[in-house]
Amino acid sequence: MKHLLTFAIILSGFLAQAHAQDRDAFVEKLLGQMTLDEKIGQMTLFTSDWDVTGPSLRPQYKDDIKTGKVGAVFNAYTAKYTRELQRIAVENTRLKIPLLFGYDVIHGHQTIFPISLGESCSWDLQEMEASARIAAEEASAQGLHWTYAPMVDIARDPRWGRISEGAGEDTYLGSLIAAARVRGFQGKSLKDNNTLAACVKHYAVYGAAQAGRDYHTVDVSRQTLYNTYLPPFKACVDAGVASVMTSFNEFEGIPATGNSYLIEDVLRKDLQFKGFVVTDYTSINEMVPHGYSKDDKQAGEQALNAGVDMDMQGGIFMNNTKKSLEEGKVTEKDINDAVRRILAAKYDLGLFEDPYKYCDEEREKRVVMSQANLDAARRIARKSVVLLKNDKETLPLKKTQKIALIGPFANDKRSLIGSWSAAGDWTKARPLLPAMQEYAPGKITYSKGCNISDDSLQYFSLALKAAQESDVVVLCLGEQWDMSGEAASRARLGLPGIQQQLFDRIQMLGKPVVVVLMNGRPLCIPEIDAKAAAVVETWYLGTMAGPAIADVLYGEYNPSGKLTVTFPRMEGQIPVFYNMKNTGRPFDANNKYTSKYLDAPNDPLYPFGFGLSYTAFAYSPVTLDKTAMTAGGKVRASVTVSNIGKYTGEETVQLYIRDMVGSMTRPVKELKGFRKITLKPGEKQTVTFDIDESMLAFYNHELEFRAEPGTFQVMIGGNSAQTSSATFELQ
Ligand code: NOJ
Repeated sequence: MKHLLTFAIILSGFLAQAHAQDRDAFVEKLLGQMTLDEKIGQMTLFTSDWDVTGPSLRPQYKDDIKTGKVGAVFNAYTAKYTRELQRIAVENTRLKIPLLFGYDVIHGHQTIFPISLGESCSWDLQEMEASARIAAEEASAQGLHWTYAPMVDIARDPRWGRISEGAGEDTYLGSLIAAARVRGFQGKSLKDNNTLAACVKHYAVYGAAQAGRDYHTVDVSRQTLYNTYLPPFKACVDAGVASVMTSFNEFEGIPATGNSYLIEDVLRKDLQFKGFVVTDYTSINEMVPHGYSKDDKQAGEQALNAGVDMDMQGGIFMNNTKKSLEEGKVTEKDINDAVRRILAAKYDLGLFEDPYKYCDEEREKRVVMSQANLDAARRIARKSVVLLKNDKETLPLKKTQKIALIGPFANDKRSLIGSWSAAGDWTKARPLLPAMQEYAPGKITYSKGCNISDDSLQYFSLALKAAQESDVVVLCLGEQWDMSGEAASRARLGLPGIQQQLFDRIQMLGKPVVVVLMNGRPLCIPEIDAKAAAVVETWYLGTMAGPAIADVLYGEYNPSGKLTVTFPRMEGQIPVFYNMKNTGRPFDANNKYTSKYLDAPNDPLYPFGFGLSYTAFAYSPVTLDKTAMTAGGKVRASVTVSNIGKYTGEETVQLYIRDMVGSMTRPVKELKGFRKITLKPGEKQTVTFDIDESMLAFYNHELEFRAEPGTFQVMIGGNSAQTSSATFELQ
């Protein structure tokens, strides 16, 4: 068996090498036949007229395809439409090079899964891989080859709307999720007709936009780049991601799209990335208003010289690169390298063998929104729900209880699929009202309560009447779907409109109020936390949101999600995240001259890693098998977790480590491992983590990844704020 396995590994290595040799020979031959215009055409990407996120510069994109000015198109899908466009390229251009079709398939294609931030709260890597796999199955059945995902920007400022698109604030968890999503999209081989080439974005440090304002300036050190923002990109490169998208922001005063340190030194040389680099939407053009390029032509030169291969939507290479080459401002070698990398991706996808292989209408009908995909969406949606509060076992609801279901999200469909919901059709989303009616026929009274963001009180009285007549109120509040995502930063993070007022009025009736939240970012909701009987964070759970939430509310599914992002009490605490530094004057309630606020606590409303269950778990103190680790050795940390409640439940046991003294100051704790376990009532399990040196290492001042001898604190618990600890020495 072992021999067979070794043989299989050697064989697959050999086949990969043979594939690369064939591909390189093919690409070299093709490149040798190409004119400069044809090469620049391959470096040019335009949107079709379907979806745009910025100015659509080329309404004549079909002519561009015909004349070979464009090598890739985004925002076009369906087997029929992509076939039509592909035919224009293959039948009209001299070398018949197929088009590459890209799209933002972020959290599902037509079957929509929870927004990425929500899904990350499942901490379930297999499920996240599965949802990306299903998205790829559906998107590829609709003619798409390439997705602009995963979005792996670490984000610690909930004002930034794009926090909804990533996996939260943590680098370690974010890296595991990033790799799982790449595996899901790209499957076993890009050659298969149900896989998508992934494009990890936005490279780099986009999530550190100052004041949480989208597209704003970023100013972080190289050490922060390496320790915090880069690892998820590295994880994607290691997982074989096919492409990388540059970001809109600057790094060290140089826009990322023209930043050769980021693209050449870090991405290509250090991380050994072999795929191609595409810009974000007109991000070369934006180097002019950034104040880095005097005009478009210079911006194009700076981008190409920095290592960009493909221009998204800017038309900069198309309009300027020939002249830049004549003037010696760019080299033919750089152009050839860019084209090589793009053609190699098309080859890997099998497009030269069959340019229409993804345009299969029969498969499209069978695969898109199949029952199996909808079932998976419901399963993953309920795993993404985070129970934030549950006083006096208000939840789960009983089917005999009279429920007043109130709020602008209680029967809403549009918001359920969130932003960046690609080809998702919100009219097919399943809202909460019918799903609850199915559980408890005749027991649900629905009332809208108010609109999401205006101040009309017209629905209040009916809502109050429904509440008055009920046993329990389920109040669905939140943000509209387009209040997070791109270009959707908010300076105030309370509930929009008069939703808070609606809550206050209903709560005064004295009935238990269960608040079901739908939102794309952490909200500042201290009053809700103080007064609601239960709070359920559901994000935007996708097509099957309603049934999934009903499953949780009625106890068909015991919630197991844990926050992957901290909830501040108020905006003034931002940024607040679990792995901050200790400072030289750590918080001391009795000493004014320590790091704190006069008018607010330091700790957040809900910490990273937090999430309740209908059952309860008790943790034993952490024990270590030794007090010292020698080079190359291991320390085993253990805790015993017991289910001391009434329900079978799933717990995510979290391991955090602190390096007490370093050559650079280190965070107060960092997630380094986790395990998901399921326990029946009364059951217990010992969970162990083997800690090795690599888990203690960080990028030091010289950007070397090293563990430093000294004391380490090991913390284990059910969330980042509630752990027990023990220490050991690294010798
Ligand atoms: C701009 C966004 O920043 C990026 O995430 C997206 O992939 C592109 N537009 C294409 O739609």
